[in-house]
Amino acid sequence: MMKNFSGGPLHNHHHKQTPGQIRERNHRRSGVLCALPWRVSLRGYGFCMAALFLFCFGSLVYQLNGGPPKILLDIRQYLGESTYLDDHGPPAPRVLPFPSQVVYNRVGKCGSRTVVILLRLLAEKHQFNLVSSDIHNKTRLTKHEQVDLMKNISFMPQPFLYTRHVHFLNFTRFRIEQPVYINIIRDPINRFLSNYFFRRFGDWRGEQNHLIRTPGMKDDERYLDINVCILENYPECSNPKVFYIIPYFCGQHPQCREPGAWALERAKQNVLENYLLVGILEELEDVLLLLERLLPHYFTGVLDIYKSPDYRKMGNMTGTVRKHTPSLEALQVLYQRMRYEYDFYNFVRDQFHLMKKKIGLKSVSQPPAYSPAFLRELTLRTPEPLDEDEELDTDLDDAKSWLVHL
Ligand SMILES: *[C@@H]1O[C@H](CO)[C@@H](O)[C@H](O)[C@H]1NC(C)=O
Ligand SMILES: *[C@@H]1O[C@H](CO)[C@@H](O)[C@H](O)[C@H]1NC(C)=O
Ligand SMILES: *[C@@H]1O[C@H](CO)[C@@H](O)[C@H](O)[C@H]1NC(C)=O
Ligand SMILES: *[C@@H]1O[C@H](CO)[C@@H](O)[C@H](O)[C@H]1NC(C)=O
Repeated sequence: MMKNFSGGPLHNHHHKQTPGQIRERNHRRSGVLCALPWRVSLRGYGFCMAALFLFCFGSLVYQLNGGPPKILLDIRQYLGESTYLDDHGPPAPRVLPFPSQVVYNRVGKCGSRTVVILLRLLAEKHQFNLVSSDIHNKTRLTKHEQVDLMKNISFMPQPFLYTRHVHFLNFTRFRIEQPVYINIIRDPINRFLSNYFFRRFGDWRGEQNHLIRTPGMKDDERYLDINVCILENYPECSNPKVFYIIPYFCGQHPQCREPGAWALERAKQNVLENYLLVGILEELEDVLLLLERLLPHYFTGVLDIYKSPDYRKMGNMTGTVRKHTPSLEALQVLYQRMRYEYDFYNFVRDQFHLMKKKIGLKSVSQPPAYSPAFLRELTLRTPEPLDEDEELDTDLDDAKSWLVHL
């Protein structure tokens, strides 16, 4: 069924070429007209052709050199976009354009395991090609690895959804058609805490299980008090380690991993240009709802699955991670250390709420950032969904056995 729709990119190319073709036709006609009553000026004709060549060449270079992917612009136009970069171009399409290449460069500990499990079910239901990389610990690639991976991705049978823990890949830079990106992030401190305790004590599979799987970790490290880690500046709790979410959106440039305004601005710009949607985990149901609206050929029915009792049962698999809430002092220090991450998170949240508004969903109002009440609440605010990490595939098999009825 999906195959019928995979004309998306063709449609797209067609659009791109239209101005050039029209221009060319006009030139030909005026060339013919010129030739009749007056003597053909060879120089004029040559000039015409040179101008035409320059125009075509220029437009080709322009198309290959950045700017948001056409399909994203089409979708935004369809939605009646006003906040995005483009306001001119062809009239808004009447049907929602269908991207047939989607990349979800999932951020660690932001609920992506939940989403990947849902995707497994959806891929079967809607017949798209889901490729979930089993590399979970390599987010930065050499230039060569980047090109290899992007080529691999772009050669996958369409429609596809590719997902991996990897910092943003700039396809345009290597003259490969840029796919549509999606992602989900989460309150930075909550993400950090989730990871801190997951590394030490694992997840629902139990602490004993986790101790066996991580024999390399010394007790000093495993039982390190989180307040000590933060307040005494252990590397794990300091920059650049806590500068974690932004690089996923900034990209593979080395400066993307340096905590600072440069990486922050580039990440924001990139969200505007290349991401169809960046959801926030705190409002996961709305994220799924928006995905269902924006990418119906991938996500139709996702909320039904997510809310089904069978799926809900899996929520029980998360409970056993040991969590201490850091002291208020430690939280404040950490918050200060993560100010760029919070700037980015707030930006994404605002964009997300804007998108919800456009689709007609209300946003729950949030307390203003950085009040003590806010900080106290911070660690309690996020319902803990399934956490992703290594051994994903085994988990998915487990998960699927819960879902045979669907
Ligand atoms: C990633 O994990 C694999 C095994 O799971 C290991 O062999 C490899 O060295 C790790 N790579 C990095 C960059 O940590
Ligand atoms: C690309 O695909 C080839 C063949 O399927 C595979 O051997 C290679 O490891 C892939 N490379 C990357 C970077 O995924
Ligand atoms: C991607 O590469 C293009 C072309 O080199 C460049 O114009 C653009 O700024 C890059 N985008 C990001 C986010 O790195
Ligand atoms: C989680 O497990 C407990 C005990 O096994 C059970 O009582 C509860 O109903 C389960 N919750 C869900 C949502 O299935």
